[in-house]
Amino acid sequence: MTPAEMSALTEAVCRRAPVIPVLVIEDAATARPLAEALVAGGLTALEVTLRTPAALEAIRAMAEVAGGMVGAGTLLTPEDVRAARAAGAGFGVSPGATDRLLDAAEAEGLPILPGAATATEAMALLDRGYSVQKFFPAGSIGGAPALAALAAPLPQIRFCPTGGIGAETAPDYLRLPNVLCVGGSWVAPKPMVAAGDWAGITRLAAAAAGLPR
Ligand code: 3PG
Repeated sequence: MTPAEMSALTEAVCRRAPVIPVLVIEDAATARPLAEALVAGGLTALEVTLRTPAALEAIRAMAEVAGGMVGAGTLLTPEDVRAARAAGAGFGVSPGATDRLLDAAEAEGLPILPGAATATEAMALLDRGYSVQKFFPAGSIGGAPALAALAAPLPQIRFCPTGGIGAETAPDYLRLPNVLCVGGSWVAPKPMVAAGDWAGITRLAAAAAGLPR
């Protein structure tokens, strides 16, 4: 799959809802009800980070939830790309980008949202054909003002900022012309997941899904 084709697909993922939940799953048994709760609230694109032993099983479980689209985050290596694909991930996300990682995603046909933190990194990805990128770690590298500044010289790049974003700051990003959606973990707080408070998570998701952009 070409980078341009991937960017079209990741743009469609980002347009599903204003927020992509970033999920660190400790117990695969929570994956399905968590995905159902988020989708019920209107957040239909979900990112499961490959940071826990339960992640791949969680992706397999979430891939079966109707109306949802599950992706794999924290993709660092070609092996991660292949494992994510095999588990049923529909897209991938990385905090950065390496040639090995992008080569693997293109070969496997896994649409990937690669990460950039500077104009040079964003330009390198654009050179390769990736016009839709993650901006990470957004809150620590200047937040919404930094992205607004990038929009002036690089208006053709669209971003999903992630990292340190919450319900209070998400609107600052979502009003920018170069932001498609934001990513964040605030819609699935660990204590609520551990307690099985799925109704509470659906309420958080609905509030996030209602954010204007
Ligand atoms: C991450 O890498 O964990 C994501 O960027 C989410 O960050 P957050 O927990 O600050 O929302």
